[in-house]
Amino acid sequence: MPTKADSQDIPKFDYQEVLRDVARSMVRLKRPERLLKLITRFIDRQFGLTHTSLLVLDPKKGRYVFVNSKGAKRLPVGLVKFDIDHPLMQWFSGSKKKLPVQKDFLFLSDVKKMLSRAEFRMAANSRGDLLAGIQKTMQNLNIELLVPGYFKDTLVGLLMLGRRVNGRSFTTQEVTFFQTLAHDCSMAVKTTEYNQNLIEQNQELANRLEEIERMRAKEQRTYYEIMRSLAEEVHAKEPYIFSHVSEVERLGIMTAREMGIGLSGKTKDLLSAALVLHDVGKIGIPDSILCKPGQLTPEEWQIMKTHVEKGARILEPLTDFKKVREIIMAHHERFDGNGYPRGLKGDEILIEARIICVVDSFHAIVSSRCYREGHSIDYAIHEIQKCAGAQFDPVVVDAFLRALKIELQKKGEVPSSLAEYISK
Ligand SMILES: [Fe+2]
Repeated sequence: MPTKADSQDIPKFDYQEVLRDVARSMVRLKRPERLLKLITRFIDRQFGLTHTSLLVLDPKKGRYVFVNSKGAKRLPVGLVKFDIDHPLMQWFSGSKKKLPVQKDFLFLSDVKKMLSRAEFRMAANSRGDLLAGIQKTMQNLNIELLVPGYFKDTLVGLLMLGRRVNGRSFTTQEVTFFQTLAHDCSMAVKTTEYNQNLIEQNQELANRLEEIERMRAKEQRTYYEIMRSLAEEVHAKEPYIFSHVSEVERLGIMTAREMGIGLSGKTKDLLSAALVLHDVGKIGIPDSILCKPGQLTPEEWQIMKTHVEKGARILEPLTDFKKVREIIMAHHERFDGNGYPRGLKGDEILIEARIICVVDSFHAIVSSRCYREGHSIDYAIHEIQKCAGAQFDPVVVDAFLRALKIELQKKGEVPSSLAEYISK
C-alpha cells in the first residue's frame, strides 16, 4: 500500500511538468512506441526500481505484449505475453463493481492480504483462484505494483513496477503519478490506433474507388469499342470502299495539328472519338434511306438529318463523352448558319465539329461507292475551297489543305490545286 514518506523520499522532479511533457509528446509523436519507451525509461531512472515494464494490448493479436522493460530485473520483452483471459487481465478487465477492491492499482501486499481472508481461501472460489494466479505472476515477475491504463472501458495496458532498490515504499503521490502516466499511455496508444484505423479505412476506400473507376473505365472502353464497330457498320452500309471512319479520324487529327490545337491525352482521345463516331446515329436510319443511290426526297432528308440527335443519344452512357456528344450534335452545322439541327454559325460551332465537317466532306467526295467512282483529289479540293466561308470554316479549310499538301508531298503527288499552300 502507498505510504506517507519523508520529503527526502520523494524524487526531485516536478510531477506536473513531466505530465505536461508527456501530453505534448502525445500530440507530437505519430507512433506511440517511442513515448511508451520514454516513459518506462523515465520511471526506471527517477524511481530506482528493480524493473519498470509496460504491457500493452495488441488488438490485432488479441493479447497483451511488452513494449519495454528497464531495470536490473527487467523482463524478457518479446517472450512474455498475456492472453486476455490471464488472471491479471481478468482482474483489471472485469466490472469494478463486482470486485472487492478498486482497480486503479494493485500492490502485491494487497493481493496477499486478500488471499489471507477466509472468503478467498474457500475452495471453488473464483476470486480466490484469480488472486492466486495474480500473486503467482507478480511474484514470478518481481512485480510490486500494477497500474492499469484504460481507454473508456477497455484495458489498454499495464504498468508493472518492481520494488524500490532502496526498499522504500511508494507514496500516494507517486501512485497517482503512475496512474496518470498509465492513462496517458493508453490515450496515446488508442489515439494512434484510431488514426491508423482511419488511415487504413481511407486507404481501403481509395482502393475501392480506384477499382470502381477501373471497372467504369473498362465498361466505357467496351461501350466505345461497340460504338466504333457500329460506326464502321454504318459506313459499310452506305457503303464506302475504303474505311471512311479511320480516314476521317486521320485527316481530322492531321488538320487539328496543323491548326495548332494542343492534342495530348484526353483532348486527342475526345477528338478521335468524335471523328470516329460522328455518324454513329445513322445506325438508326432505315437502310432504304441510308443506302439510296439517288437523291433523297424532302421527307427522307428530314429523317436522315435526325442522325445527329440519334448519335448523341446513343452515346449518353459514355459519361466522359459529354463533349463528344456536343461535337456530334454540331457536325452538320454550317459556318454561314444554314446547317442543322440548330442553325449555329461561325464560332458558335465547336471547332472540332467544324473540322469534322471539312474532312468528312472531303473524304466522302474522293471515296468510291459501289454505285459511283470516287472523285479526284483536285475535284474534292476545288469543292472544299468553293464552300469555304459558307459550309466550311475558311480557317479550317486552309489548315486542312496545308496538311494535305504536306502529306501528298511525301508521296510526291501534289496536285496543282494545292500549289498555293506552302508547307510550314
Ligand atoms: Fe453526319
